[in-house]
Amino acid sequence: MYCTRKVTDSIHWVGGNDRRLALFENLFPIPNGVSYNSYVILDEKTALMDTADPSIRSQFLENVQHVLNGRSLDYLIVNHMEPDHCSAIADIVNLYPEVKLVGNAKTFQIMGQFYSISDLSDRSVVVKDGDTLELGSHTLAFSMTPMVHWPEVMVTYETSEKVLFSADAFGTFGALNGNIFNDEINFDRDWLNDARRYYTNIVGKFGAQVQSAIKKLGSLDIQIICPLHGPVWRSDIPYLLDKYQHWSTYTPEEQAVVILYGSMYGNTENAANVLASMLAEKGVKNIAVYDVSSTHVSQCISESFRASHIVLAAPTYNGGLYPAMEHVLLDMKALNLQNRTVALLDNGSWASTASKQMKAILETMKNMTVLETGVSLKSSLNDAQMEVLEALASQIAEGICQ
Ligand code: FEO
Repeated sequence: MYCTRKVTDSIHWVGGNDRRLALFENLFPIPNGVSYNSYVILDEKTALMDTADPSIRSQFLENVQHVLNGRSLDYLIVNHMEPDHCSAIADIVNLYPEVKLVGNAKTFQIMGQFYSISDLSDRSVVVKDGDTLELGSHTLAFSMTPMVHWPEVMVTYETSEKVLFSADAFGTFGALNGNIFNDEINFDRDWLNDARRYYTNIVGKFGAQVQSAIKKLGSLDIQIICPLHGPVWRSDIPYLLDKYQHWSTYTPEEQAVVILYGSMYGNTENAANVLASMLAEKGVKNIAVYDVSSTHVSQCISESFRASHIVLAAPTYNGGLYPAMEHVLLDMKALNLQNRTVALLDNGSWASTASKQMKAILETMKNMTVLETGVSLKSSLNDAQMEVLEALASQIAEGICQ
């Protein structure tokens, strides 16, 4: 049975949810599922905004057919060519042989790489930045936003109802539970962590390109944002823009301490817990502690984007850095994390090198301030080292309270 919702009188959500997939991109855990959004615009001409992932193929196609209610489909707008949004293009072409596919030159290049759809040249409408397409009372204006999140990505602004079809931008992990609008859910409580984890891990590397897109779209009067994942925004858009502003400029969202530790036998973990308690005693309220061996790297990344201060605590392993910590740190570097204050704590029973290795990676990143006070354990925390740990806690707390 079809399962759709109206975004406005003429714009319909025709997407679907996947609550079975364990790993998005076969990498990122999605315990709350994920939605693949697609939208139909009904006017003198009809338009479908992107398609969907194969996992929801039949639901998606039924939804499209229901909303079109016997009408033909005139245009399929392809804002993004990643397979979670374009896998049903061939199905749509088969169902609606007259449909025109609208994309930019790169869209069609990538489409040809992924799929063999016959007669592509006859049905392709190649658009450039600033081009428009009239549907009747609705006008679609196309804006190129490369690398948010792939090079072919464009967004489409519908001028009469002031709706931005934003592709991956402003999306989030999480299935939509009937409530598809931001004003029907408690986003801050139930969705923000997934939204941050989605942005930082999927688009985090491309902050400069996200900034360019924000500036480019800044002059538009946007009343509704329809992303390809997660809720549709029809209120409180400045809240969402503020989050994107922080994430894309690598500005900490909160004055907070995130302690990421790796620990083989619990001794480095003990030092992490003692440091957290010392910080709390000094009045720091926003502290989060994660074991890098049992916390997915995507959550460590997300939390590192949120917090102003990061403590990395890890043992030395095979003369190098504990592998789980190395994974987190290299991912931080790959995703371009910048502008953080970092404290280092290492552990080694005979030849400790972990801090040196962590520092070497941090030095290749932009504007990462490593505190001079570091703590080096020999197997376990001892009385003599409590003073230096206390000094480190004071230094972090002073930074936090500024
Ligand atoms: Fe949801 Fe970049 O695809």
